[in-house]
Amino acid sequence: MTANWPINQWYVAGWDFEIDRMPLARTICGQPIMLYRRFNRSIVAMRDACPHRLLPLSMGIKEGDNIRCRYHGLLIDSHGQGIEMPLKSDKVVRTACVQTYAVVERHRFAWIWIGEAERADPSLIPDLWPCSEPGWTFDGGYYPIACDYRLMIDNLMDLTHETHVHAGSIGQPELLETPMETMSEGNQVFVKRWMPGIDAPPFWRNALKQDGPVDRWQICQFVAPSSVIIDVGVAPVGAGATIARHDQGVRGFVIDSMTPETPTTSHYFWGMARDFDTRDAGFTARFKAQQGGVFQEDLVILEAQQRSIERNPDLRLRSYNIDSGGVRARMVIDRLMKETVSIA
Ligand code: FES
Ligand SMILES: [Fe+2]
Repeated sequence: MTANWPINQWYVAGWDFEIDRMPLARTICGQPIMLYRRFNRSIVAMRDACPHRLLPLSMGIKEGDNIRCRYHGLLIDSHGQGIEMPLKSDKVVRTACVQTYAVVERHRFAWIWIGEAERADPSLIPDLWPCSEPGWTFDGGYYPIACDYRLMIDNLMDLTHETHVHAGSIGQPELLETPMETMSEGNQVFVKRWMPGIDAPPFWRNALKQDGPVDRWQICQFVAPSSVIIDVGVAPVGAGATIARHDQGVRGFVIDSMTPETPTTSHYFWGMARDFDTRDAGFTARFKAQQGGVFQEDLVILEAQQRSIERNPDLRLRSYNIDSGGVRARMVIDRLMKETVSIA
């Protein structure tokens, strides 16, 4: 199967809390990779294969910041360099080294650069600012999902699916009645919905801590190569909130970053950043559990969709108006893929 993701991009390799002293094995963009932290907490990302006979290094034994292969004992330092051969008296050969990857921790995630190492520029890391902004609280979880990461982007850029997929939780018929606006800006795509003067749904009424009509917004933003952040919230009618500026009420960002594992499987990093009740750790935990339940509902649909796509190779996906955000996001991905091909 051919790769369906652009290279020369930063992808989320893991949550900050997932990566520790012991190796974490994770396939990212088709490459088996091992991640762990040094004593100074910086993160190591290395090809997960011993340069000798290719046993996964993640099965190895940590010795300080180094790792010793569990098969014949080759010792590799945290920069991927062999420092001791299986026969200790042997001189270390030049080929006893492992590919390493640039990693930067930002916005609570470890970002890994997939592509030409010399082009890794941290200023290109997707700007998921609500995850690390003072005055905001952010937490979430991780699911492996057996589907093409682009199906998840389609899903998140089209919230009309909430009505049916999440009928028991966050779905609201009004989502099918509100017109939406789709626009692109460079490598970003926006789908905006503005719902003025509506009754706040229970979650937002509680967050706002008052009754009465509200203006509600939902702005889905695709951030290349594979993140979607959704600006959601409500403000009391008359508070002056607009689709362009809305800090008057309560606001959250649903954060989603999808990292391709293989062409038909993905890593899904999800969470919620919010600017209300930011010190309420119980709320954070309850909301995380609730959000995890909602995304499980998507997981069932997306994995069934992937299986159906594979069982129906003679049929193709069709796009309606509701798909305009996903269609444009895929156009950005296709363009980035062509650009990297032309560089290579
Ligand atoms: S396979 Fe790792 S030392 Fe032999
Ligand atoms: Fe969903």
